[in-house]
Amino acid sequence: MTAPPKTLPEVSVVVPTYNEVGNIAGIYESLAQTLAGRAWELVVVDDDSPDGTANAVRELGARHDNVRCIQRIQERGLCSAVHWGVQAAHGEVIVVMDGDLQHEPALIPQMLEALQAGNDIVSGSRFLEGAAEKGLSRRRRRLSDWGNKLTNRFLGTTLSDPLTGFFATSRRLFLKSIPMMQADGFKVFFDLVYHNRAVTIRELPFEFQRRRHGESKLDLYMLWLLACDIVSKISRGLLPPRLVSFVGVGLIGSIFHFAILYASMDLGAVFWVAQAIATVVAMVFNFTINNVLTFSDERLRGAAFYKGLLLYSLIASVGIVANVSTAQIAYMRLNGHTFIAATTGLVIDVIWRFVVSNRLIWGRSSLLRKPS
Ligand code: GDD
Ligand code: MN
Repeated sequence: MTAPPKTLPEVSVVVPTYNEVGNIAGIYESLAQTLAGRAWELVVVDDDSPDGTANAVRELGARHDNVRCIQRIQERGLCSAVHWGVQAAHGEVIVVMDGDLQHEPALIPQMLEALQAGNDIVSGSRFLEGAAEKGLSRRRRRLSDWGNKLTNRFLGTTLSDPLTGFFATSRRLFLKSIPMMQADGFKVFFDLVYHNRAVTIRELPFEFQRRRHGESKLDLYMLWLLACDIVSKISRGLLPPRLVSFVGVGLIGSIFHFAILYASMDLGAVFWVAQAIATVVAMVFNFTINNVLTFSDERLRGAAFYKGLLLYSLIASVGIVANVSTAQIAYMRLNGHTFIAATTGLVIDVIWRFVVSNRLIWGRSSLLRKPS
């Protein structure tokens, strides 16, 4: 006996989640309401949220056969979560939306119509005429304005909301773009548009809702991550956004470094002592800022933060030996040219630190992550 043929979904709604357990049932309900009469599915990609979101999705899946959960245990990150969801989707049309009810499912039928009418990508805009943005604080709104200007300038577009997280396109177009997209980049929509600048894009206004449960994970870092993403794209992907961020933090750290270096020498310290003091202060600065900005996805907190700082100091002290001794040799060879000598030491140091700490402190083979 063969099973009755299944109807393939026409629309796959891909929802990345991190700690959204309180929102899952609500999303399903409103999708079921708006998409009644269509073949659709919900694909939730959860990064092993500690609040048990994945279990809630599986429970939902036990009751409805159009719900699936991808629980990712070894991966983190909004962009790559969306990519995974798209690769697992069955529908011809992909809709990407937040898992926190800030995006209104009621817009989806209009999005589908606009796709049908020949647009290649259709997005929900928070800022288009007719839109409302209850969910954005004033500060958030200002950050968004800056981000939008920067993004439009870079893309050569005039989108009202180039950083939206709510959009629809064909599975074909999305799959074709994935090899070019950067999984650890910041904005999926921005990335998709960047690689499809010749296609027709249509924005539709919607009402950005207040978050009902849980908290927003993308806020202050938005502009920083956006800038790193743009630099990465300018380098044609040669420099991954994370490395750009690490070097960026390092550059800011080196401003501190030079300030302390020159100040200590002014106070009478000999060059190698001044360079060593500056290196240590810059090291603590770099660790703390990288933990928040570069590795915000895998940020260490509490005890893990201090263990991380300790491990980082250990890794860095190897770098410091290489740094100070190279700098000292350069200093003597260059007849006391402080700036070039210090820079030579720093470059060696930064490369060593990124490669090793990226793996051992924050990365997948982190020595600090408890096996759960
Ligand atoms: N799988 C996975 N992994 N999901 C994540 C991760 C992650 O590392 N980080 C965040 N998410 C999920 C959240 O659970 C939520 O469903 C969605 O991604 C968006 O995260 P929010 O934390 O709700 O972001 P937001 O509301 O502050 O940001 C909004 O504005 C941005 C533009 O400024 C969203 O609409 C974004 O999509 C949008 O790009
Ligand atoms: Mn949100």
